Amino acid sequence: MDQKSQSNPPRVLIFPFPVQSHVNSMLKLAELLCFAGIHVTFLNSDHNHRLLLCHSGAHTRLTHYPGFWFATIPDGLPDDHPRTGDRIKELFYALSAVTRPRFREMMVSSRLGAETGGAVTCIIADGIMCFTIDVAEEVGIPIISFRTVSASCFWAFFCIPKLIEAGELPLRGDDDDMDRPASAVSGMESFLRIRDLPAFCRVHDLTDPGLQLVTTETQLTTRAHALILNTFDELEESALAHIRTHISKVYTIGPLHAHLATRQSAEPASLPPDMTRSNSLWEEDRSCMAWLDSQPIKSVIYVSFGSITVVTTDQMIEFWYGLVNSGKPFLWVIRPNSVAGERQIPTELSEATKKRGYMVGWVPQEEVLAHPSVGGFLTHSGWNSTLESIVSEKPMICWPYFADQQVNSRFVGEAVWRIGLDMKDTCDRLTVEKMVRDLLEVRRDEFLRSVHRMAELAKKSVREGGSSYRNLDRMIEDIKSMNC
Ligand code: UDX
Repeated sequence: MDQKSQSNPPRVLIFPFPVQSHVNSMLKLAELLCFAGIHVTFLNSDHNHRLLLCHSGAHTRLTHYPGFWFATIPDGLPDDHPRTGDRIKELFYALSAVTRPRFREMMVSSRLGAETGGAVTCIIADGIMCFTIDVAEEVGIPIISFRTVSASCFWAFFCIPKLIEAGELPLRGDDDDMDRPASAVSGMESFLRIRDLPAFCRVHDLTDPGLQLVTTETQLTTRAHALILNTFDELEESALAHIRTHISKVYTIGPLHAHLATRQSAEPASLPPDMTRSNSLWEEDRSCMAWLDSQPIKSVIYVSFGSITVVTTDQMIEFWYGLVNSGKPFLWVIRPNSVAGERQIPTELSEATKKRGYMVGWVPQEEVLAHPSVGGFLTHSGWNSTLESIVSEKPMICWPYFADQQVNSRFVGEAVWRIGLDMKDTCDRLTVEKMVRDLLEVRRDEFLRSVHRMAELAKKSVREGGSSYRNLDRMIEDIKSMNC
């Protein structure tokens, strides 16, 4: 770093969409940039920052790095708003009405550094908050878009105008054939069906606000300086090749959680005093680790539907019967505010759970997935969970809830990567029971071989000389060059 930039190192402001998974992956990005001597301002929502301070080691860990600064901004919702998937539109509207003007104020005065801990030389913002690009252009600060979804899903979003032009969207009535091909998504013609498109596409009217938003925000990404994706080249070559014909600078630097672990293990001296890796917004119940220790190797099905999914009590009971009837031990995360509706739980379920089930509110998921007793993951196919499962070599049963999860579950299933089973659009106890048995017993070795191969590719990409490792170094040089 030359004299000037040493005295005034680059400062990157990182601004995640204010939900757990986006905060999680962007905090890992923040830490990777700190390693490179870049000063980071992390812009958390007021609501999430209070939870992060209460339930994680993130503040202690990150403020250990020179120049690291937490800033906060309102997300526009009352504190008691659940911020769950079924009401996520309210968060989008609040961000646009309240957060956007406040963000503009912060960026206009960012050169003074009062609120941002120093003059901001680059913004890395969550690409689903497309107002950040307008603000960055207005104040003349370079902006890099970060998308927390897979490259394949991002490419499917990008192809929505083509799907509409081809007449493949919108849905054609309630009895539409959801298994008809989504052939306008180039590179996926042979396996992607209408039912596998992002859930925003399941509309009968093109003026649907969700469809419009996801289309606009994706097209706007072409105005950013670059795009960051939490994936690795070897996993999604085809989608990345298509994306790169529209966006010249795409930094694929994932899996971020594995990348951070690799760089930290290479530089133990840099490890912050507070070793808790947690970025959790909820209290982690660590008692599950002792329960896992008491279970046989690869015997447990781990069940979690992420940080914003909401299931009905009917769905919950179907999963519960399926898990109990599978005869396999299960560790089930039932996050606070994740079940809608009231229904009496049959006593037979509660009794059977005492024998071989363990139910908790929130866990250290990366540690749970890495535990040798966990044999498989019943997941909603959020992208972070999918990457974490791949790296820990755990095959999956995918029950997508919304957003990008429908795309992810198609890739994990037997049509593409064959590292698990796609349970999309079904929720019955017989299917759950059969899939758990197939995953942990009947077809176990087949899935373990496939996910092992994929994990090896992921780990190679984040090791020195690997594709994600090299891409991150290139991105860091790019960011430093903005400061000259
Ligand atoms: C959201 C969208 O729903 C998802 O589709 C998109 O890919 C990312 O943004 P979320 O639903 O929360 O994410 O799922 P996911 O991406 O899997 O992120 C969940 C995060 O919470 C993971 O990093 C996981 O490790 C963590 N987690 C989950 C815990 O730490 N403890 C738990 O008990 C459950």
